[in-house]
Amino acid sequence: MRVKKAVLPVAGLGTRVLPATKAIPKEMLPVIDRPAIQYVVDEALEAGIEHIVFVTGRNKGAIEDYFDRAYELEATLLQKGKTDVLAALDAQALPAGASSFVRQQAPLGLGHAIWCARDLIGPEPFAVLLPDVIIKGRPSALAQMVAAHSQVGGNMIAVDPVPEARVSSYGVIAPVKREGRLIEMSGMVEKPPRAEAPSNLAITGRYILQPDIFALLADQATGAGGEIQLTDAMARLMRQQAFYAYEFDGHPYDCGSKAGYFEAVLAHALDHEDIGDAARALVAAAAGAAASAAG
Ligand code: G1P
Repeated sequence: MRVKKAVLPVAGLGTRVLPATKAIPKEMLPVIDRPAIQYVVDEALEAGIEHIVFVTGRNKGAIEDYFDRAYELEATLLQKGKTDVLAALDAQALPAGASSFVRQQAPLGLGHAIWCARDLIGPEPFAVLLPDVIIKGRPSALAQMVAAHSQVGGNMIAVDPVPEARVSSYGVIAPVKREGRLIEMSGMVEKPPRAEAPSNLAITGRYILQPDIFALLADQATGAGGEIQLTDAMARLMRQQAFYAYEFDGHPYDCGSKAGYFEAVLAHALDHEDIGDAARALVAAAAGAAASAAG
């Protein structure tokens, strides 16, 4: 069955980048000229997703407004003849009826956030994209997964190797057998201590799941951090159904951390059509200044 719907959990508080996120959702922080969440929505659309379910929380209204049309703004831009900006706005709004918003009323964990989307997803496989993670890749990471999923079916998670010192920040898989980019697993564990991590292959914020995950999430006990973890429910689903990891071709940026956010901004500046030349010159000058300060 084709993957047509995606869940984007956007209820997180953004505590890692406070105070920047005190009055705006972390997903709305700009990466050059677009909010971070736009990159993730574009990835979903490129992968053929037709409906996006946003799982929101308090103070996330800006996200709903952003994906709506802004009639006054459009009228003013039209009057001023700013057709290029109008075209950019037009490319960005989601089609009518192609998005839904549901609230996660308490921060009980990622697994609980996904469970909140159960009625809007219904009995079909669906994608999950974590908006903290922007992935640069052509085709997009989710598009690569959807293509692989159309061949093998079942459930699938994106993985990417991380330095061993960082495994305790992620869900980590136990790989068994690899065929191309597809990996068979014997298990997965959320935020293991470094010494207990089964590998350095981290779950990277992209998932294709069968709807059977919802029944498991409904009675999932709390796990790492005292939260209901998606990884724990997936580990149970893995005992019942085919489940693959997919090592995508692309570079992920963790925009939930300051360094990852800066890296995302830098990478998108360097190949941006308007400011790429200026950005490369600035980076070269900064590298020169850093080298002479060091030497
Ligand atoms: C979540 C997932 C984790 C995954 C990570 C990717 O953790 O629970 O399995 O590796 O996203 O960014 P979080 O970063 O929300 O704590």
